[in-house]
Amino acid sequence: MEPAEFARSYRLEAEHWWFASRRRLVAALLAPHLPADPHRRVLDVGCGTGGNLKLLQTWGRVTGIDINALPLSFARHRNGSLAQGSALHLPFAGQTFGLVAAFDVLYHRQIASDRQALAELRRVLAPGGWLVITDSALPLLWSAHDRLYHTRRRYTLPHLRRRLQAAGLHPVFCSYANMVLLPLLLPTRLLMRRVLTADFDLHPPPRWLNRALMSLRNLETAWLSRGHTLPVGSSLVCLAQRDSL
Ligand SMILES: C[S@@+](CC[C@H](N)C(=O)[O-])C[C@H]1O[C@@H](n2cnc3c(N)ncnc32)[C@H](O)[C@@H]1O
Repeated sequence: MEPAEFARSYRLEAEHWWFASRRRLVAALLAPHLPADPHRRVLDVGCGTGGNLKLLQTWGRVTGIDINALPLSFARHRNGSLAQGSALHLPFAGQTFGLVAAFDVLYHRQIASDRQALAELRRVLAPGGWLVITDSALPLLWSAHDRLYHTRRRYTLPHLRRRLQAAGLHPVFCSYANMVLLPLLLPTRLLMRRVLTADFDLHPPPRWLNRALMSLRNLETAWLSRGHTLPVGSSLVCLAQRDSL
């Protein structure tokens, strides 16, 4: 991400509908599988400015790791232990974590190999441990936003599912997400690709609009948390598990 985007994320991630609704979705999907356990170790890979550390503390003792010092300097204002390092060479012993999260990280150009990153995530997962991934979806949506966010790739669901399986993980639930806003997002992104160079995605909307967009996303979360999937969307969400043996 461009340096200014970290400051912007830090400012917005508590209230902005995009971040808040993603947290709500992750909480709804993980809750049926993972009871709270203060002894469980949880890893937030590519934790950025730390906006998800508090959510992840629901399931155990959280460590956030990021390759870049700048987002970690923001994350230090939040609760949680932090480390600087790469998802490609995690500085942790094998089978350490009962839950590993990678929220919008795999897509990044500092992930030179998503195969290697997923192998690392699997290595540090305890037997039976859970991995939760969110990421950017649909190559068609490529735009100025991706340039600012240093995107290497936008995933399709079959592609990410194959990568998880190849890493020896079992996808338990995978779906597109953020479908309800696609009719708005698609023309904006296409315009941003062809005409505009600025990114309009992460500006704070007026409060009424923020609430309205949250409500739309909450409808989606209710649908997804009943085990249904969505055929398209600007994001992906996957829950996967490591074998118990
Ligand atoms: C879009 S931000 C996501 C931040 C946070 N996970 C969130 O969803 O709010 C992507 C983050 O991944 C980090 N990152 C990129 N490549 C990485 C790597 N190889 N290892 C660890 N972190 C990485 C970036 O520094 C950045 O903080």
